[in-house]
Amino acid sequence: MTTPRNAGPDHERRDETVITSSFTVSVLAALGLALLYWQGGQPQLEGALLAVAAGGIAVGLITWSHGLMPNEPEAEEREDPGSTSSEREAFDEDLDFGQVLSRRRLLRRFLVASIAAMGAAFLFPLRSLGPRPTDRELDDTPWKFGTRLVTEAGAPVLAADVPADGLVTVFPEGAVNSENGQAVLMRVDTALLRPLPGREGWTPQGLIAYSKVCTHAGCPVGLYEASSHQLLCPCHQSTFDVLDGAKPVFGPAALRLPQLPLAVDPTGRVYATGGFSEPPGPANWNRKS
Ligand code: FES
Repeated sequence: MTTPRNAGPDHERRDETVITSSFTVSVLAALGLALLYWQGGQPQLEGALLAVAAGGIAVGLITWSHGLMPNEPEAEEREDPGSTSSEREAFDEDLDFGQVLSRRRLLRRFLVASIAAMGAAFLFPLRSLGPRPTDRELDDTPWKFGTRLVTEAGAPVLAADVPADGLVTVFPEGAVNSENGQAVLMRVDTALLRPLPGREGWTPQGLIAYSKVCTHAGCPVGLYEASSHQLLCPCHQSTFDVLDGAKPVFGPAALRLPQLPLAVDPTGRVYATGGFSEPPGPANWNRKS
């Protein structure tokens, strides 16, 4: 039979007490963490409880490993198949070892309970993710056929007022300051445009509009370099080619800015003929480009 390094009943009982106490503290800390999170949370306290929960498991396992696990290999000589009186005594001692084994089973249960409690506590943050948005919700902007473009002040946008080298931030009429409805409107030379298939009629008089919400992390794409026809997001310098369907040409954004189909009514006012080509913003994992 092999023996732990700190052999001796007193050592073992002391180590077992340390182990059960550590696992119990870990369980309580994990339950406290779950309860605190459920009540609304407090980051510093949550961090402290998490540290105690993990630390309790660590202390328990280390003590177990050092105090109760065998540390030295032993070989038993077995020359005589018969049992001597000393071997019989040793066998009796081994039978007494059953009590130790049952205590070890108890320790294992404490270990499982502490790991399970901490695992359960880790499940609570999943609530923070909220319900999974659907494409329909992401695409739910105020733009629809006939919605007029207005300025930040709510004034209708006239085609003649859009400067050739400038950028106008526009909103759907009736939804000024709409976060997912905001768009940038520019005027470009129609001969330079390279419309994507199906979008040939979306740019009357060279007027072209894209969502203002960056597809990288949602910053407003508010800078326009007319000489290169590029829109720039100031947050991480993603750059989009206005002439080529707002294709990203530089920076971390991987998706085009959604385009807004436009038309001009007989009075010269600009209106949308539908919603954005894709749901605006970065939270759109179904898009390929
Ligand atoms: S949010 Fe626009 S580049 Fe990052």
